[in-house]
Amino acid sequence: MAGLTRSPAWRALREHASRDAVERGGRGLRELFAADPQRAERFCASAAGIHLDYAKNLICTRTLQLLLALARQQDVEGWREALFSGRIVNPSENRPALHTALRQRADTPLLVDGEDVIAEIRSVQRRMRFLVNAVRSGAFRGCSGEPIRDIVNIGVGGSDLGPLMACAALYPYADQRLRVHFVSNIDLGHLASVFDVIKPQNTLFIVASKSFTTAETMHNARAAREWFLARMDADDADLSRHFIAVTARADLARSFGIEEDKVFEFWDWVGGRYSLWSAIGLPLAFYLGIDHFDALLDGADAMDRHFREAPLAANLPVLLGLLGVWYNNFLGARQHLLLPYNYALRHLPSYLQQLEMESNGKSVDRCGAPLDYPTAPTVWGGPGCNAQHAYYQLIHQGSHLLPSDLIIAGERAGAISGNHPGANPGSESDYRYQPLLAANFIAQSEALLRGRQRDADGQPLPGYRQMPGERPSNAIVLERLDPAGLGALLAMYEHKVFVQSVIWEINPFDQWGVELGKQLADELLPALYRGEPGEQRDGSTASLIQRLRVRRAD
Ligand code: F6P
Repeated sequence: MAGLTRSPAWRALREHASRDAVERGGRGLRELFAADPQRAERFCASAAGIHLDYAKNLICTRTLQLLLALARQQDVEGWREALFSGRIVNPSENRPALHTALRQRADTPLLVDGEDVIAEIRSVQRRMRFLVNAVRSGAFRGCSGEPIRDIVNIGVGGSDLGPLMACAALYPYADQRLRVHFVSNIDLGHLASVFDVIKPQNTLFIVASKSFTTAETMHNARAAREWFLARMDADDADLSRHFIAVTARADLARSFGIEEDKVFEFWDWVGGRYSLWSAIGLPLAFYLGIDHFDALLDGADAMDRHFREAPLAANLPVLLGLLGVWYNNFLGARQHLLLPYNYALRHLPSYLQQLEMESNGKSVDRCGAPLDYPTAPTVWGGPGCNAQHAYYQLIHQGSHLLPSDLIIAGERAGAISGNHPGANPGSESDYRYQPLLAANFIAQSEALLRGRQRDADGQPLPGYRQMPGERPSNAIVLERLDPAGLGALLAMYEHKVFVQSVIWEINPFDQWGVELGKQLADELLPALYRGEPGEQRDGSTASLIQRLRVRRAD
């Protein structure tokens, strides 16, 4: 909506951005630190086991005041209440977005269309607890009487990335008697690589799909069912010991052959990328045990309460959201970098990519009118130490303004399972490893700010060795990388994305932009078999069809 860029808060920020250097007396970030010994204490906030140090950003007190005025002008507080109370915040699909209800720990009813969604959630959670405990204890067995040893999650996007990321992040809590595998890609190589390491009699497949129509997932699920039936010489009745479904379309799961009591429901009002907290989290619950899954919900609930209750100026998701808007809309940054230092958080950037880019990668407002300002930046990144030896060069000396989040856990929690003597927290090797990780994390945060212009004797370095510094970054420190800490971290980013959507006046809960590609893929299949592009295709597409046409081996 063009109104936003003409609004008082927006105009004030634009003016501030153009005069910013003047207001700061021409001082850069380094000088601001030197001039204000309290800067680090003023520009930080903590909640739910997470500490955010945002002092190394290109902001002054006035910038923050103006950003907070923008948040108030856009009614972030009103929208926040609408989100939590189940009002329609996804207008294009006429739905609320109630991922927060999934982790609400109090039993206070929440009515949607006259139904208490908390009661429905509790009923599914009880069934999850029962099955997880039965599988982990060995009470639930496969059709040949053998215990389950492998869980295979077949899903894609939000039905894959959340549990995949969280299983890697929390592996020290896992019971290594159960392995989890994730199959998402439609390339047969993905499923086949899992078939190579599992035995059908010990495997439980989870078909995870909100719609139960996603082509990749359904294709892989059918292939897994065929493989299982053929390898076990089993019949459809045996499937119920080896296939469960997580979906909002229980009817389709039953038609697939999954028994009613093996279908775990979730609801239209949970977006795919917000669904880790629902039964989509089952792979994680199997891997860690249901109590650890509950602790993940506890952590997210603590962050929800912080987001709902804390004043805007001390509110982690609000601060992160506003800083992103500052760079994106007023300083011209079009990218945001995510750099988790813990190896266990290696899948976090992919997970947050979907969260941010599928939610806010929009260029129309809530009513479908075109916007005249940029929305979600490109989000990318990877584990910090590896990235330092790959693309940090561009961050330090490249020509882009590239704000980043550096993320680390102050303490690794839980024992490293398996045979890793001495790798547990407080052990001798942990004593040597953890400071190395922390030193790299802090060094990069400092180097991005400080840069280097002179050598040890104070002589100017040649240009190619100079690093300008003044590169903005947030430092995000989790007290512990445990289930509650991870839950709080993910909820913090979910709400950051929501805050930005409110500022930009967009609907973060739909994803119409992914529809066309899916539809065209369906339409193209017959053309690939025929090897004939058909009419009305552009020359490039027609030639790709010819090149990749399917040829049966004789
Ligand atoms: O194609 C995008 C998407 O619709 C995501 O939003 C979603 O997480 C993913 O596909 C998987 O969808 P489903 O759970 O319905 O299979």
